[in-house]
Amino acid sequence: MTEPTARYLRAAAGQAPAAGDTIPPGPIPVFPTPTPQRQLRLTINGREISVPEGSSLLQAAIEAGFEVPTLCYLETLTPVNVCRVCVVEVEGSRTLVPACSRKAEDGMAVKTDSERVRLSRRLVLEFLASATGLIVVALQIGYLPTLYGAYNRREILVTALDSRAGAPAWGPEILARHHLSEATASLPAMYAAWETLSADIAESHSSYPWLMGMRSPSPLNCWVISLLAVLDSAALYISLCPATVPTEARQCLRMGFVALRALARAMGIDVKDDPRPDDPIELTFEQFTKGVEHMRRAGFPLERSAEDAWPDFHGWRVNYESAAYHLADRLSAVPAAWSGKRKHMSKRDYVDVLARRPRHRTPTDPEGKRVLERQMTFSADAE
Ligand code: FES
Repeated sequence: MTEPTARYLRAAAGQAPAAGDTIPPGPIPVFPTPTPQRQLRLTINGREISVPEGSSLLQAAIEAGFEVPTLCYLETLTPVNVCRVCVVEVEGSRTLVPACSRKAEDGMAVKTDSERVRLSRRLVLEFLASATGLIVVALQIGYLPTLYGAYNRREILVTALDSRAGAPAWGPEILARHHLSEATASLPAMYAAWETLSADIAESHSSYPWLMGMRSPSPLNCWVISLLAVLDSAALYISLCPATVPTEARQCLRMGFVALRALARAMGIDVKDDPRPDDPIELTFEQFTKGVEHMRRAGFPLERSAEDAWPDFHGWRVNYESAAYHLADRLSAVPAAWSGKRKHMSKRDYVDVLARRPRHRTPTDPEGKRVLERQMTFSADAE
C-alpha cells in the first residue's frame, strides 16, 4: 500500500493522523460496483446476434455486419431522428422505425434491406434532393445582390480606366495620357481608388472565385489587365520619377500585388510569397524600353533613363507579374501589352487587339492632327 493511501485509510477510520498526514478524517467514497449489462438476443436479416441492453438497432445492424445508411446521425450526438434515411422494418411493427434512435429489444426480428425499406429510403432521398435544389436556388438568389455589388464596384473602375488608358489598358499609356491631357494631378486619386478596389476584390473574389471569371461588358476590358496596367504605371512612376511620384502609387502597388497573389492562390496557382528583387521576370528590358520611349514621346517628364530605372522597375514587377500573367491566361483575358501569353489564343488574336488613342479634336484642330499618335503597335509588346 502506498503511503498516501495508508494515510487516507487512517483518516477514514478515525485514527489519529500520523506525523505528516495532511488529509482530514472523513468517509471513504464508495464507488458503485458495475452491474453486468444484460445481453439482448435479436435477429437482423435472419442472422442471430446478441448486443448489450441499450444498443440501438443501428449499432446492432453494424455489429451483425449489415450496412444501414444514415444522414442526420453522428456518433457523438444524441440522435435527432429527422432524416428517416436509416429506417428498418421490425417484425410486428406497423410502421418502419429509424434504426439510429430505436433501441434494440429482446427477440426482435429486423430487416434492413427489404423492398419496403428500399422504397421508403428512395422516397426520402428524392424529397431531400428536391428540397435541396430549392434551398440552393434560394441561397443563390439571396446572394445575388452581394455578388453583383462586388462585380459592379470592380467594373466601375475598370470602365473608368478606359478614358485614362484606353482599352485594353497599358501601364505606359496611363502615364502618357494623363500627361497629354494635363491630368497628372488626378493620378494620386486614381491610385487611391485602385488600392481600395484591390482590397475589395482580394476579399470578395477570393471568397467567391467565380467572380473572377465574370467578364466586363466591353470585350476589350478585363479587370486583371486593368489592375496590371495600373500597377505597371505605378512601378514606372516610382522607378522613373522617384522625386515626384505620389505616395499613393506605392500604397496602390503594395495592395495590388497582395490582392493578385491572394486571387492566384484562390485559383490554385502557386506564387512566391516573398520574391527577391533580382528574381527573373518575363517582361524584357527591350519591352520596358519601348514603354519608356512611349512616355517620352508623350512628353512625360522623366527623371531617370530606362537603364537606370530598370532594376527598380524589375524589383517591383517581380512581386505581381507571375500572379497577373497566370490569372490573365487562366481567365483568357483580352490580349494586351505586357500581360503575358494566352494558351488558348493564336498569334493572330494578339495582333488583332490594339489599343488606340482617340483623336483629340478641338475647334482649332478639328481633325486632331496635332495630337501625338501612337506609332508603336501593341502586338510587338504582347508577344
Ligand atoms: S439517420 Fe437520420 S433519422 Fe436516422
